[in-house]
Amino acid sequence: MSQLPARISTADHRPARAVRRMERMLSLSDFERAAARHLPLAIYGYLASVAETGASFDANFNAYQSWHFVPRSLVGVRERNIATSIMGQQWKAPFGIAPMGLAALMGYQGDAVLAAAARDAGIPFVLSGSSLTPLEAIREVNPDAWFQAYVPGEHERIDALLDRVAAAGFGTLVVTIDVVIAGNRENNTRNGFTRPLRPTLRLLWQGMTHPRWSLGTFMRTLAQDGMPHFENSMATRGAPILSRHAERDFGKRDHLNWDHIRHIRDRWKGKLVIKGLLAPEDAVTAQEIGAEAIVVSNHGGRQLDGALAPLHALPAIRAACPGLCIGIDGGVRRGSDVLKALALGADFALVGRPLLAAAAVGARAGVDRAIAILNDETRRNLGLLGLNGIQELSSRYLVPAGTPLPAAAATPAPETKAARTTGATRLQ
Ligand SMILES: Cc1cc2nc3c(=O)[nH]c(=O)nc-3n(C[C@H](O)[C@H](O)[C@H](O)COP(=O)(O)O)c2cc1C
Repeated sequence: MSQLPARISTADHRPARAVRRMERMLSLSDFERAAARHLPLAIYGYLASVAETGASFDANFNAYQSWHFVPRSLVGVRERNIATSIMGQQWKAPFGIAPMGLAALMGYQGDAVLAAAARDAGIPFVLSGSSLTPLEAIREVNPDAWFQAYVPGEHERIDALLDRVAAAGFGTLVVTIDVVIAGNRENNTRNGFTRPLRPTLRLLWQGMTHPRWSLGTFMRTLAQDGMPHFENSMATRGAPILSRHAERDFGKRDHLNWDHIRHIRDRWKGKLVIKGLLAPEDAVTAQEIGAEAIVVSNHGGRQLDGALAPLHALPAIRAACPGLCIGIDGGVRRGSDVLKALALGADFALVGRPLLAAAAVGARAGVDRAIAILNDETRRNLGLLGLNGIQELSSRYLVPAGTPLPAAAATPAPETKAARTTGATRLQ
């Protein structure tokens, strides 16, 4: 396994020209649009892909639009602060980077770039089990990184993977449970994307017509680090990313059930997060088994098409598990989305596609810029909402879109810091 020091130094590299170019990006969606131009169709298609009709993908965005804010006025918001604690650890913002496979195919050393940017911004970074960089190298870049596993169905193979992750020093394991069967992403097939990639004339043509990606990411990776492999799906190295015949080995994933999670809980001594559930009953089971946190998710609309939006599952899950640390992902594109998720009961949100797009188009400067945009938006909108801290958010700051406020619902003015310190009633 190659754990190159070069990976680490490159992840911190931010040429002034790239920083200036990224200043043109004003919202997270700008990165996704830029990535569509920068990446060959097959590669961009993987980043953007959705299951079947895209119903769940659309639902994720519509869910955020279905809530409107009820801001409070003139409460003094000079101290607005978005720092938070997640599973007992302090972070500078209530959002992090979702696990995403193949980041090092999107941008040069993409996993290390995302990990280093998250480290410096003080936000969680989750390394994907389908990543192309050995997890040991990423743990060196970012000691607070979380590792996400797609566990196989065989206990001995699970144990070997867990032992490797623990030996590398990871403190938080995220087990994704919504990919026991691959989703039907027919758009990948249409665009010529497979895992591993098959060398075809079509792929070659797409590479030739996107020379910045071909030279700056793909050829550079081959020249400096060799052919990327799926490094972290199992305890040992997996298939190469480009191969005529190699097949990926997923193990017996479709055998997975809650007993496997009990087994993982017994063996894994660090924090355990279960990602990819939508039913309150499953959240209760995860909590009973001893998971420290869950991530309410439909995998960004990439798995079961028609699955409900995580934001719509959140209030019921929060009600079922009042004390559990709850994350959410899918469709979070603005600071206002982060605030809505927190108001409805989440402790943190993860962001996927735009941050991968930022690594593709702007490397370290791109990811820094994307995180800064989301930071600014979250902090700005917290103040516009009339709050100083995200801990003060609650569903009282939201109303279903298009619904008039009930006439009798006049609430007292939000408390000021002065009122708080004198022990006055806290606005819930
Ligand atoms: C390109 C891509 C690769 C992904 N790979 C993984 C993965 O390896 N493991 C995982 O748990 N989730 C994976 N996901 C799902 C994300 O972690 C997350 O649930 C989803 O992207 C959130 O939706 P958003 O992209 O709208 O923010 C992937 C998503 C994308 C877009």
